[in-house]
Amino acid sequence: MEAFRVERSGPLKGDVRVPGAKNSVLKLMAAAVMAEGLTTLTNVPQILDVEIMAELLRRLGCKVEHDIATSTVTIDVPAKIGHKADYDLVRKMRASISVLGPLVARCGEADIALPGGDAIGSRGLDIHMQGLEKLGCHVHSEHGYLIVRAENGLSGANIALDFPSVGATENVVMAAVLAKGNSNIDNVAREPEIVDLCNMLVKMGAKINGIGSSVLEITGVKKLNPTTHNVVPDRIVAGTWAIAAVMTQGDITIHGVKPSDMELVLEKLRDTGAEIKSVEDRLNVSMHTRPKAVDIVTLPYPGFPTDLQPQMIALNSIATGSSMVTENLFEARFRFVNELARLGADVKINGHHCLVRGKEILSGAPVEGTDVRAGASLVLAGLVADDVTYVTEVHHVDRGYSNFVENLTGLGANVKRVEM
Ligand code: UD1
Repeated sequence: MEAFRVERSGPLKGDVRVPGAKNSVLKLMAAAVMAEGLTTLTNVPQILDVEIMAELLRRLGCKVEHDIATSTVTIDVPAKIGHKADYDLVRKMRASISVLGPLVARCGEADIALPGGDAIGSRGLDIHMQGLEKLGCHVHSEHGYLIVRAENGLSGANIALDFPSVGATENVVMAAVLAKGNSNIDNVAREPEIVDLCNMLVKMGAKINGIGSSVLEITGVKKLNPTTHNVVPDRIVAGTWAIAAVMTQGDITIHGVKPSDMELVLEKLRDTGAEIKSVEDRLNVSMHTRPKAVDIVTLPYPGFPTDLQPQMIALNSIATGSSMVTENLFEARFRFVNELARLGADVKINGHHCLVRGKEILSGAPVEGTDVRAGASLVLAGLVADDVTYVTEVHHVDRGYSNFVENLTGLGANVKRVEM
């Protein structure tokens, strides 16, 4: 079993580059299957989830190449594609579900194994299904698969999502752009990764109005064309490096970011006492004292991202003062808090609230990274803990962070990947 061996380090100093967003590239790869021919994605992160999505698309009949040197993925989509996503891949990565919309749009049918992925909650699919049913799909489950059929094709519809779910918005939008007629989709998610997907769909020939707002008006088109698209920067990876600078009282310049996608996160980090400067696609975060604790409430974008909640609990655990962190998206995300407590953090959970009383220093111990963000956050905590911390289940971190250890050591951290 592999683990990260983390020694107390810092202040972290230097430069780090952020790749394209995991939560965008996977959906862009799925969207590519809607157009026959060669789609090219640039600024692709070198992460495990990209390889899983590439394999899924290959099994649908596409030729997929990932050139790591140029951070480019090419997807050559044949005239006829398969419509089945198997359990062995879907269980490894929940985002496999994002081929659902493209497959019903392109083939009129999709069989998708019910997903697994991060252990961060029950993560229903009801909103995806309600939206697709409105567009004319029949859905049932059989032998662990979701069977989705649009025997008479897809037709535009007025749809109001119960909740601005990221995944449901993406699936419904991808189906609606190839449906017959107009769709009006209300209460959609507005995450920068959704904007990125809509922008790519428009380049492919889709007609979408209201991109970036909570209502999308879509006029269906008969066919889409392949395109070339540069993946939006990963605001969660950028936020992780910014939090690392604050926790270790360091000075990090993060390159390749889009600061306008991170306004609330940067505001919260300023509240901890950090100095933050942004110039074009560069963000400099420096910290000269122990951070002040800040309250956090996770909400859909433009609210505070749930994917940076564990990192902020880690930060609050070594801050001056107490804070309340409220998680509104994934009920099981606080599983990570029990691991942080093993490092000596003073954390108390009550329902979806976590009370954190800051301590000057944590205490190194073996801990388990229960999901991609939990694993990264425990490594950050290990940097401000005495002695040595071992973070296991590193495969979760590999799903979301390219060259995680190399980037950290480049900033002066004492972190190694070791066999346990
Ligand atoms: C995506 C991101 C994930 C991020 C999350 C919220 C990817 C690959 N993952 O996940 O990193 O944390 O957005 O920003 O992009 N829900 C339902 N029924 C549904 C759909 C969702 O009840 O049909 C619930 C979920 O259980 C969860 C909440 O809605 O409690 C948010 O989920 P959603 O926005 O769909 O997140 P994902 O797309 O799974």
